[in-house]
Amino acid sequence: MSTSPALTSDNLSGKVAIVTGAASGIGRATVDLLVERGVRVVAEDRNKAVEELAGPAIAPLTADVTDEDSARRAVELARERFGGLDILVNNAGIIINKNVVDMTLDDWNSVLAVNATGAFLHSREAMRAMIPQGSGAIVNVGSYACFQAFPTIAAYAASKGALAQLTRALSLEAIEHGIRVNAVGVGDTVTNILDDIHDDGPGFLAEHGSATPIGRAAQPSEMAQVVAFLASDQASYLVGSIVMADGGMSVAAG
Ligand SMILES: NC(=O)c1ccc[n+]([C@@H]2O[C@H](COP(=O)([O-])OP(=O)(O)OC[C@H]3O[C@@H](n4cnc5c(N)ncnc54)[C@H](O)[C@@H]3O)[C@@H](O)[C@H]2O)c1
Repeated sequence: MSTSPALTSDNLSGKVAIVTGAASGIGRATVDLLVERGVRVVAEDRNKAVEELAGPAIAPLTADVTDEDSARRAVELARERFGGLDILVNNAGIIINKNVVDMTLDDWNSVLAVNATGAFLHSREAMRAMIPQGSGAIVNVGSYACFQAFPTIAAYAASKGALAQLTRALSLEAIEHGIRVNAVGVGDTVTNILDDIHDDGPGFLAEHGSATPIGRAAQPSEMAQVVAFLASDQASYLVGSIVMADGGMSVAAG
């Protein structure tokens, strides 16, 4: 039996990616891993610290994913600097912890805008660039909250549920153009995402992660590996999948 060439290598080298939320955590680790594998990356974040990543293989873009123009600017930058676009990683995300009765409309809208609308806007512009070439991969950074919930995360869970359904619905529109759309169901990962909520956000996540079946939280680099796999040709048969990378949290009863 012959082996498909696409399955003997990840074929990432030479490709061009946009990674949102690239200044920190999982986004930053994804940029590092993709560059290590020969990908040239537009690294987008609303935090100006992203500019420090500038280099021959990284074009930083300080932009807010909720602005309609940001997605167009990111695709334009990918084309101008690196000659095209093969991969989009919708990673930028925020969370608030509030009961619904205490939540303002601004709270709700801000979480939905970043986690769901930002992904829609970037997917739309990426699709417009990828359709003519008949290939591409979009990877959405989802969460255990694509499926599960607990009190105080209603806005976040709603946004990740929306992202899961965007992943599935868009995957069916995209695959006829040779574009694969998938997501990662990220579990507790030691990053700065809770810094506005807890004095020691990374410490809280490390502690919380110790209650998962694997007994620890993930490092951002472990999530980046899953993102890179889904972006690569080795994931050639994955369409509309939400790959849980949560240390067993979603399969444990009780
Ligand atoms: N860390 C976890 O335990 C965990 C668990 C499940 C899912 N996730 C998901 O992983 C993704 C990455 O989060 P992280 O944990 O690395 O957090 P992080 O806070 O370390 O990184 C998120 C990055 O997104 C950027 N960002 C936020 N809003 C933005 C906007 N409007 N425009 C542009 N950039 C913006 C931030 O500046 C930051 O650099 C998020 O989608 C998050 O929901 C994380």
